[in-house]
Amino acid sequence: MTTLVTTPFSAQTTAADVLAGVDLTGQRIIVTGGAAGIGIETAAALAAAGAEVTLAVRNLQAGQQAAAQITETTSSKQVFAAPLDLADQGSVADFVAAWDGPLDVLVNNAGLMAAPEMRTPQGWEMQFATNHFGHFALANGLHRALAAAARHAPGQSRVVSVSSSAHLGSSIVFDDIHFRQRPYEPWSAYAQSKTANVLFAVEATKRWAADGIAVNALMPGAIRTGLQRYVSDDELDRMRKASGGAAPNWKTPQQGAATSVLLAASPLVEGVSGKYFEDCNEAGPNQPGTRRGVAPHALDPEAAARLWDVSEQTLAS
Ligand SMILES: NC(=O)c1ccc[n+]([C@@H]2O[C@H](COP(=O)([O-])OP(=O)(O)OC[C@H]3O[C@@H](n4cnc5c(N)ncnc54)[C@H](OP(=O)(O)O)[C@@H]3O)[C@@H](O)[C@H]2O)c1
Repeated sequence: MTTLVTTPFSAQTTAADVLAGVDLTGQRIIVTGGAAGIGIETAAALAAAGAEVTLAVRNLQAGQQAAAQITETTSSKQVFAAPLDLADQGSVADFVAAWDGPLDVLVNNAGLMAAPEMRTPQGWEMQFATNHFGHFALANGLHRALAAAARHAPGQSRVVSVSSSAHLGSSIVFDDIHFRQRPYEPWSAYAQSKTANVLFAVEATKRWAADGIAVNALMPGAIRTGLQRYVSDDELDRMRKASGGAAPNWKTPQQGAATSVLLAASPLVEGVSGKYFEDCNEAGPNQPGTRRGVAPHALDPEAAARLWDVSEQTLAS
């Protein structure tokens, strides 16, 4: 039996607590979806610790406002915004092409949840296209920059894949990822995309460990943000009860950013890769009837390798 990675932190810990005494001067970090919700708190904590932070956002004006807000609250003059629409592979390619120099940390944070049926022009289901394909292409496009940073600095470069306990609700349905044969169901689509976020960490660890790149996934907790835009509180409640979960212990956005920041920059998890964290500690296996822990389908190395191949093939098509 393997021992889980633990830290002194918990569900109540904030991102600032995690980085107390950590100096990130000289580190270059990208946070996707960094203009809102958990992303802006993640970016602010990393900037406050001295990192140069780029908010990768689909609404550039909102990104610039968020960058100005972070500069005001942290006094950091190294917070930037750059356009990125994860649902648009051309936009991802443009972002990658515009990135110059090494990259120490990529925080794949952006996402949408339980959206009504929407498709990209290629016909890809929108949650999978955004939450997984967009981040898959971004991380692969920035792989060289991440490897370059790992070569030039002690320690490892890191990729942080923000998943969710919702991953418990679905493995990857390889025969019908895009809901072409089965009726569209918003929560199953979200769950599948969040499983993909964990499987990405598993397979990227295998492929990129030799390049000095660590990749981990996490559940941030339940935080009231723009993520719930497509669902009422009643529906959230119904969904949670149906899956056997207790009422959520809502976290503040600062607490919600803590596990992302831990995996992005804390020395406590240096060398850790391919794991799933929640509440700042590695999660154990999910116990049926609970909403905690990680599902075996999300850590399955065969599914991880298959998803990587399918993703490459889909993006190349
Ligand atoms: N909040 C929770 O309770 C919770 C629980 C579990 C997991 N999570 C995960 O935490 C992450 C952050 O969520 P949040 O709660 O902070 O939600 P949020 O406030 O809605 O933030 C999500 C961000 O993703 C951005 N985004 C959406 N689609 C995009 C696209 N196509 N291209 C680029 N950016 C896009 C949004 O940009 P716009 O502002 O332009 O829409 C927004 O900035 C997500 O991955 C989510 O699945 C959250």
